[in-house]
Amino acid sequence: MERIGIIGAGQMGTGIAQICAVAGYDVRMIDVKDEVIAASLATIETNISRQVARGRLSVDAAEIAQQRIVTGKDYALFGDCDLVIEAASEDEEVKRDVLKSLVPHLSPDAIIATNTSSISITRLAAATDRPGKFVGMHFMNPVPVMQLVELIRAIQTEQPTFDTVRRLAESLGKTVSVAEDFPAFIVNRILMPMINEAIYTLYAGVGSVESIDTAMKLGANHPMGPLELADFIGLDTCLAIMHSLHSGLADAKYQPCPLLVKYVEAGWLGRKTKRGFYDYH
Ligand code: CAA
Repeated sequence: MERIGIIGAGQMGTGIAQICAVAGYDVRMIDVKDEVIAASLATIETNISRQVARGRLSVDAAEIAQQRIVTGKDYALFGDCDLVIEAASEDEEVKRDVLKSLVPHLSPDAIIATNTSSISITRLAAATDRPGKFVGMHFMNPVPVMQLVELIRAIQTEQPTFDTVRRLAESLGKTVSVAEDFPAFIVNRILMPMINEAIYTLYAGVGSVESIDTAMKLGANHPMGPLELADFIGLDTCLAIMHSLHSGLADAKYQPCPLLVKYVEAGWLGRKTKRGFYDYH
C-alpha cells in the first residue's frame, strides 16, 4: 500500500489525509468545493506545525508529509491509488453517486473503504463493481487524536481486503475494533442513543444545556458532555445516524428527538455553523 485516495475534505477527510501523510503514504484528496480544500489544507498545516512545536515531528518530516498530499476535484486523481477512502456526507444518495463516479477511474485491484458512521456497508458494496474489495473503515473525530478505527465487514467483503485494511489502520497507529454490518455498527449504536437521550432530557426540561453536560462530564467522566459532543460531531450527522438506527432496526427507542430535528431544520448544526446547543460566534 503506497497511495491512498480520500473523497471529501471535510473534518473526517482532513484528519484521515493528515495521519496517512504523516505515516508515509502518498495522499490524493478531492472535494467538490475549492474553499473546503483550502480550509482542509490550512487545518492540516496547523496540526502538523503543532506536532513540530511539540517535538513529535521534525521540520523536514513535516514538510515531506505536507508535500505528500495532492488535492483536486477530479476522480482521475485516483487512477494509481491502492485504496480510496470515501468520506463524503452521511447521505446514502450522495455516497452512491460518489461511488458511481469513482469506480471507472480505479485500477482493478484497488480497495474501496467507506468512512460511513451508520449506513449499510453491504448496500454500498453492492453499488460498486467490486463488492469483495469493499469495507467499512470508520474513523473517530478528531481523527488525529482518537485511538479507534472501527472496521466493518460487509457480507461480501473478502478476507484479504479486510486484512489489508486492518494492517493499514495499525500502520496509522490506530487500534482496530471489528464490527459486523448492522445499523451504526458498535460506537454509534451505543453513543448516538445516549446523545439523543441527552437531547430528550433537555426537551423535557429536566436540566439546562450546561447542567446536562456538567452532569455527564463530572458524573460519568466523559471528556465532553453529550450536547457539546453533538455540536462537535454535527447535529445533521447525529440526526442521519438516528434515522439509520430507527429505519434499520425498526424500534421506536431510536426515534430522533423532535428538538434535534428542529435544530437541523433551522440550520443549527453545531460548531460548523457556529450555532447548535452552544453559540460559537
Ligand atoms: N484535531 C487535531 N488535534 C486536536 C483536535 C482536532 N480537532 N482537537 C484537539 N486536538 C489535540 C490538541 O491539539 C491537543 O494536542 P497536544 O497533546 O499536542 O496538546 C490534544 O488533542 C488535547 O486537546 P485539548 O487539550 O485542546 O483538549 P482536550 O484535552 O479537552 O481534548 C478532545 C479534546 C480530544 C476532543 C476531547 O475533548 C475528547 O476526547 N472529546 C470526545 C471526542 C469523542 O468522543 N469523539 C468521538 C466522536 S463520535 C465519532 O467520531 C463517531 C461518529 O461517527 C460520529
